[in-house]
Amino acid sequence: MTSVKHGDMATVSEQKSNLIKQFNETRARTLKLVQTLEKDDFVVQTAPFTSPPKWHLGHVSWLLEIVMSKTLQNYEFYSDEFNQYLNSYYHQFGEPHDKAKRGLATRPTVDQIFEYFNIITNKVVDILQNGLLDEQTKHLYFMAINHECQHQELLIYDLQHLLAERYRPITQNPLPSSSQPKSNSVKINGGMYTLGYSGDQFCYDIELPEHKVYLNDYKIDVYPVTNLQYMEFMNDGGYDNFEYWLSDGWEKVQVEQWKAPMYWEKIHGEWITHDFLGSRKINPNEPVCHVSFYEADAYCKWADKRLPTEAEWEKAACWNEEKQKKSTFPWGNRPADLNDANLLESYIWNCTEIGAYPQGKSHYGCHQMIGDVWEWTSSEFSGYPGFKTGFSEYNDKWFANQKVLRGGSFATPKISIRSSYRNFVYLHFIVILVVYSMVCKFTYVKITT
Ligand SMILES: [Fe+2]
Repeated sequence: MTSVKHGDMATVSEQKSNLIKQFNETRARTLKLVQTLEKDDFVVQTAPFTSPPKWHLGHVSWLLEIVMSKTLQNYEFYSDEFNQYLNSYYHQFGEPHDKAKRGLATRPTVDQIFEYFNIITNKVVDILQNGLLDEQTKHLYFMAINHECQHQELLIYDLQHLLAERYRPITQNPLPSSSQPKSNSVKINGGMYTLGYSGDQFCYDIELPEHKVYLNDYKIDVYPVTNLQYMEFMNDGGYDNFEYWLSDGWEKVQVEQWKAPMYWEKIHGEWITHDFLGSRKINPNEPVCHVSFYEADAYCKWADKRLPTEAEWEKAACWNEEKQKKSTFPWGNRPADLNDANLLESYIWNCTEIGAYPQGKSHYGCHQMIGDVWEWTSSEFSGYPGFKTGFSEYNDKWFANQKVLRGGSFATPKISIRSSYRNFVYLHFIVILVVYSMVCKFTYVKITT
């Protein structure tokens, strides 16, 4: 028999109440994001790589059913029809519905999906409050909450594609003022660095195990690349010169006539973007976003720089040279507050100008590493050495032909991002890349001699 000390009991109940709180807040946030949509908006899929809002609502609830089925005896699923439509890509749970045709299904209806969403919420609340949860079960529910956070961000990508400025957020906060700093870079000493998650809260299997990597000395820009810098690349014939481009990227430029980042349009000789803030002139001081890996890479080649590896990015984001240890976030180990980073709960609905979050800068002085826009790295996505899957088919089957992105965006919920978090984009999504990476930025490193 295992005895439980008084202190351990406190930790266990703290963890449980944290789980319940995170669950309730996450479910409420999902509903808040769609609260102002018209019923028609829920059904439409504007492109094969997007999903209808009703699908996201159903799918996150379906994943909770999967967790219940794995942790409760004789769990009975809500509906076979829902199981098939709401399964994204898990062959272990049956043949998924064709992703490109999610918007062609009028059943389950929007009302049925909302009913399902609420039934599943109530079931899970009951389990979290009254069930005896072992460590593995708690981990799976934390995973399902983080999964829902990922879909909140995907839903926002899709709302940008579906509605852009016609979307009416429930909350919209003003843009913070910025110091409009001069762009410069910081030198970071090389040597051994321990890559991966080192905290004791939830993280994904792909952030583990921590392992040592060797880095050469490098310099990294302290601000993301701005629209102004990117326009210099465009004005210098960036999209017209094959020399800057990887072969696959150059083919995209040619075949799909790429001329500028996604959502940019030239009207009366002036570049305009269409996003949640409206159709507006390009702000030169915002980080460039809506660019593919190929565009980020071509820009760097033009600028005589390169993208950082994910280890270089992570060290710049969270290593404290003075204390010789890393932190969970660039600003330390405490969770983000509104002055640290532009994340979903900032409800700004766009990236902010460079220098807008001086409080959130890293120990090396790099700004906006967390929030605003995802940052491209040059690293291939694969499991770290010694990787062990935490949930089969979730992350582990995607270890090929994708690049790692770091840092989160203005659409990332704050509980779901940290310096060790690894996002990834499928390389055969080349056509999609420009959209999928719509909230992507890239910092870049100078090649040191
Ligand atoms: Fe999913």
